[in-house]
Amino acid sequence: MEVLLELILLMLQPCLLFLHTEAAGHHGGVHLRSQREALLEWKSTLQTSPALDSWRPATSPCSSNWTGIMCSVVHHGHLAPQVVTEISLPNAAIDGQLGNLNFSALPFLTYIDFSYNSLRGKIPLAITSLPVLSYLDLTGNWLHGQIPSEFGNMARLTQLGLMANNLTGHIPASLGNLTTTLVALITQQNMLTGPIPEELGKLIRLEVLDLGSNLLMGQIPENLSSLTKLTILYLYDNQLSGPIPSSLGNLYKLTVLQLDTNRLSGGIQSLWETLLSSMNFHLL
Ligand SMILES: *[C@@H]1O[C@H](CO)[C@@H](O)[C@H](O)[C@H]1NC(C)=O
Ligand SMILES: *[C@@H]1O[C@H](CO)[C@@H](O)[C@H](O)[C@H]1NC(C)=O
Ligand SMILES: *[C@@H]1O[C@H](CO)[C@@H](O)[C@H](O)[C@H]1NC(C)=O
Ligand SMILES: *[C@@H]1O[C@H](CO)[C@@H](O)[C@H](O)[C@H]1NC(C)=O
Ligand SMILES: *[C@@H]1O[C@H](CO)[C@@H](O)[C@H](O)[C@H]1NC(C)=O
Repeated sequence: MEVLLELILLMLQPCLLFLHTEAAGHHGGVHLRSQREALLEWKSTLQTSPALDSWRPATSPCSSNWTGIMCSVVHHGHLAPQVVTEISLPNAAIDGQLGNLNFSALPFLTYIDFSYNSLRGKIPLAITSLPVLSYLDLTGNWLHGQIPSEFGNMARLTQLGLMANNLTGHIPASLGNLTTTLVALITQQNMLTGPIPEELGKLIRLEVLDLGSNLLMGQIPENLSSLTKLTILYLYDNQLSGPIPSSLGNLYKLTVLQLDTNRLSGGIQSLWETLLSSMNFHLL
C-alpha cells in the first residue's frame, strides 16, 4: 500500500507539484516521503523518545498510526494525497533539539503541540515559515533565546503558547501584525524584558493575553484597551510601573485580570467601577 502510494506519487509528480501551492510552493512539493524522512531523522537525533516507538522506517506516518501524527488529504481535482498536518505530542518525554526537526519538509502543518517535553535550543526560525500553521504550543520546555519577530508574518497563527521556557529579549512588536488571526498569546514564566509593545493593541481578536511572570518594564499601554474580546489578562509578577490605564475598563468581556506583583500605582478606581458592572469578573 505504502509502496503503491509512493509509486503513484512519483508518477504524478509533475501535477502534484502544483497542488496546494500556498503550502507547498517554496517547500519542495507534497511528498509524504520527505515528510516521513524529516520526522525519522529528527527522532534519530533525540536523547530519548520512548513515545515515538511507532515511528519506524518501513512504515508511513499517515497509514501506520504513528503516535502524535495526524494527516489530512489534500484535494486537487481527483487527486488526493495524504500529508502530515498535525503533530500532537504533549508530555511525551521527548528530549532533544527542536531545531533538528526539518520544518521545511513539513509545509502542511496546521497544528503543533510539543508542550511539556525537554526540547532545547532556540525557537527555530523555520517554524515561522510554516505557511498554514495555526496552533503552536511549546509550553514547558527548555527553549532559550528570543521570540523571533518573524512570528509576525504568520498569516494563519491563532494561538501562540510559549509559557514556561527560558526565553529572553523583548516581546516582538511585529506580533501586532497578526491582527485578524491571533486569539491567544501566552508567554508566562520566561525571562522576557523590555516594554509591552503598544502594537499588541492591534490584536483585536485576542481573547487571552498572558505575559505574567517575566521581567517586563514600563507602563501598561493604553492601546490594550482596544482588545475588546479579551477574557483573560495576566500581567502579574513583572516590573511594570505607572498607572493602570482606566481605559482598560473598556474590556467588558474580561473575566480574569491579574496585575499583582508589579510597581503599578493608582488609577484603578474607574477601571474597577466599569469592570464591576460585569457579573462574571474576578479580580485576583
Ligand atoms: C493506534 O495507536 C493507538 C495507540 O498506540 C492504539 O490505541 C490504536 O488502537 C491504534 N489504532 C490502529 C488503527 O491501529
Ligand atoms: C529539509 O527538507 C527540505 C524539503 O524536503 C529539503 O530540501 C532539505 O534538504 C532538508 N534539509 C535538511 C537539512 O535535511
Ligand atoms: C534556564 O534559566 C535558568 C535561570 O537563568 C538557568 O539556571 C538554567 O540553566 C536555564 N536552563 C536552560 C536549559 O537554559
Ligand atoms: C510588522 O510589524 C512591524 C513592527 O510593528 C512593522 O515594522 C512591519 O512593517 C510589519 N509588517 C507588516 C507586513 O505589516
Ligand atoms: C497606541 O495608541 C496611541 C494613542 O491612542 C496611538 O497614537 C498609537 O498609534 C497606538 N499605537 C499602535 C501601534 O497602534
